[in-house]
Amino acid sequence: MGTESLAAALEREHHEIDEGIAAFAASPRNPQPLARAIRALRRHIYLEEEFLFPLLGEAEPALRAPVFVMLREHAQIWNTLDALEREPGGSTGHALRRQLTSQLLHHNLKEERVLYPRADDTLPPSVAGRLRAFLSSGELPEGWVCVKARPVTRNAGG
Ligand SMILES: [Fe+2]
Ligand SMILES: [Fe+2]
Repeated sequence: MGTESLAAALEREHHEIDEGIAAFAASPRNPQPLARAIRALRRHIYLEEEFLFPLLGEAEPALRAPVFVMLREHAQIWNTLDALEREPGGSTGHALRRQLTSQLLHHNLKEERVLYPRADDTLPPSVAGRLRAFLSSGELPEGWVCVKARPVTRNAGG
């Protein structure tokens, strides 16, 4: 059995998520594919922000700038997901779905061209293996929100 590279596995997940959104667009009466795609996408973002991106930034400081851009885009995507969950149907849902598709198109291409190839080149095989395992069976921690979509916290004070 050949082992899929981490870049290939991440790219495959991008496509699976795209397919879920497209399936929902084709039959909006069935909410299952969209719900699944949203869950998968939030978990994908979690993996990138909590594990992949910090490891990449550590291995290659020059990647911190593109990572920063990806984090900002994650927040935009995250907000679209929140809105889409609130209103998946009707003209609002339609517009949100188109917005998400366009956001993902640009975001995913950049990751696939700039960041994922570096992951294959720089991460030790054991680390890449752990991240691949997460892609097949990992869970998004309850209540996790992507870094730049978190509410600004004020000091609690007394
Ligand atoms: Fe991403
Ligand atoms: Fe990604």
